[in-house]
Amino acid sequence: MAKLVAGVAVSHVPAIGAAIDNGKTGEDYWKPLFKGFEPSKKWIAELNPDVIILVYNDHASAFSLEIIPTFAIGCADSFAPADEGWGARPVPVVKGHPELAWHIAQSTILDEFDMTIVNKMDVDHGLTVPLSLMYGQPTAWPCPVIPLAVNVVQYPPPTGHRCYMLGKAIRRAVESFDKPLRVAIFGTGGMSHQLQGPRAGLINSKFDNAFLDKFSRDPEAAVKIPHIEYVREAGSEAIELVMWLIMRGAMDEKAKEIYRFYHVPASNTAVGHLILENVA
Ligand code: DHB
Ligand code: FE
Repeated sequence: MAKLVAGVAVSHVPAIGAAIDNGKTGEDYWKPLFKGFEPSKKWIAELNPDVIILVYNDHASAFSLEIIPTFAIGCADSFAPADEGWGARPVPVVKGHPELAWHIAQSTILDEFDMTIVNKMDVDHGLTVPLSLMYGQPTAWPCPVIPLAVNVVQYPPPTGHRCYMLGKAIRRAVESFDKPLRVAIFGTGGMSHQLQGPRAGLINSKFDNAFLDKFSRDPEAAVKIPHIEYVREAGSEAIELVMWLIMRGAMDEKAKEIYRFYHVPASNTAVGHLILENVA
């Protein structure tokens, strides 16, 4: 059977992708950020997962305001990097894992989560920046990736609790897949960010660090944070943190924290990163 072995939480700031693509990672502004991901790159190279389920949000790249699925799973063979207005990022095409993706779709839907099945989709910075941070600039991504897009762009997004329960359903789905795959799950987005309006650039490190603690050690408490608290404390786009809770729900409650990194600022947001492993 397949096994869920590890979880990675990571912000997906587009400026990080631009820094990588334009050869700026060695500049003074970016150096400390990329240094923080060196241990993660070593860790994932050693772990070498067979498949990644990558929870992210589409930022009006694949889905316009015409259709907004709450949860959408990518079942295609491959996913091209999206053109977000200045050409597609020069990163490899993402290879999917249709067999596992369809199994997760079937298992979660029959488990009463109404996933949207997506057979064609371009993937934006929400998905590609986390891969770049963890794997650098390979000519091909080292393993297949199943995109799982969550609506956090148009009100109402799903609750943290719903996300956490979906994570548990994904765990059940993976562990009922009849192939010995070692699966990792990424939860992306966040932390503090407010991209527009009078509070643009808001960073609340106290909230972010308290969230990292709760997320790691007391996920049941993190699940109870209401939307309004994310928005009030850490900015309107901090709502992206509910996606981390899908990853957290898929991991053991007592999962081991392997690594943590927090950095401000990147662009005008905070970057949070945490790695968990299931011990058993
Ligand atoms: C920005 C955009 C994002 O989607 C995000 O998660 C963080 C930052 C930005 O435009 O700076
Ligand atoms: Fe985002």
